[in-house]
Amino acid sequence: MLHKDLLSLEDLSRSEIETLLKLSLDLKLRLKQGEKLTHLKGQRLVLLFYEPSTRTRVSFAQAAYLGGAEVISVATDTSSVTKGESLVDTARNLEATGASALVLRHKAAGAAALVANRVSVPVINAGDGWHAHPTQALLDLLTVWEKRGGIEGLKVAILGDILHSRVARSNIDAFSRLGAKVKVAAPPTLLPPGLDDLGAQVVADPAAAVADADVIYLLRIQRERQAEGYLASLPEYSRWWGLSSELLAQAPADAMIMHPGPVNIGIEVSYDVAFGPQALFTKQVTNGVMVRLAVLTTLLGGEKQCLQRSQVVAF
Ligand code: CP
Repeated sequence: MLHKDLLSLEDLSRSEIETLLKLSLDLKLRLKQGEKLTHLKGQRLVLLFYEPSTRTRVSFAQAAYLGGAEVISVATDTSSVTKGESLVDTARNLEATGASALVLRHKAAGAAALVANRVSVPVINAGDGWHAHPTQALLDLLTVWEKRGGIEGLKVAILGDILHSRVARSNIDAFSRLGAKVKVAAPPTLLPPGLDDLGAQVVADPAAAVADADVIYLLRIQRERQAEGYLASLPEYSRWWGLSSELLAQAPADAMIMHPGPVNIGIEVSYDVAFGPQALFTKQVTNGVMVRLAVLTTLLGGEKQCLQRSQVVAF
């Protein structure tokens, strides 16, 4: 890959996305076989998160450690951000301390691109507002690919709060470009305009969306926004749009159930479904470490060294 940064999967070709998935699988196999990786030794990854995170932050750190890199995590609430230092100034100062790459999460769409244009080191978008979450889409692709051996021709149903979701935007684009058919179902207030252009078909009824789905992808209802009148009530949303065992019974028996987390159990998914055999939530998280290791390997220049020693992976 010739890119300095990873801001959105829309910037990558299908072949570049597939190369990252292949590298993720390769690294996963090598780690499983007990190999100790050192190709990121000497690199210092700085995690700069302006929004809360559990999975993304920790899995970037785990990925860096697995490759031999060091990690520094900036707590923005105790940093000079609280004294008014701007995003770009903060990033430039972190680069000046010796950061090899910045992993940025921010509430503003475009924040990662803003920083990427003003620092020399790679910037990885760990989620920017409602815009994109590229490593989430990569880990979701990897999880499906491992189970089904590919993405081409699969049917993906995305249910939930599409409007506020950067994961929805990244996944609709990524799954569509890799050959899946994507349907979305949500109350009209939670559907943004332009879904057709992104490659998704809007379906009015969740049962119709899941009826032939290989993947049922659930999105968190962003409860912090429900005071704004997007939903009449959460219990009613849960009753009509949540994935219950009754709704799941209308889907193929081997449908994969996925969720980016954090999960609101009892709202977008019932307890029995969330902990049932079709739910892949923790497998997604494990794959998150692998795709982030592949991204760090690629952007920090270890790709060639790493691939020279790689084994052939059926893909
Ligand atoms: N999926 C995801 O981005 O989770 P976190 O907010 O915990 O990082």
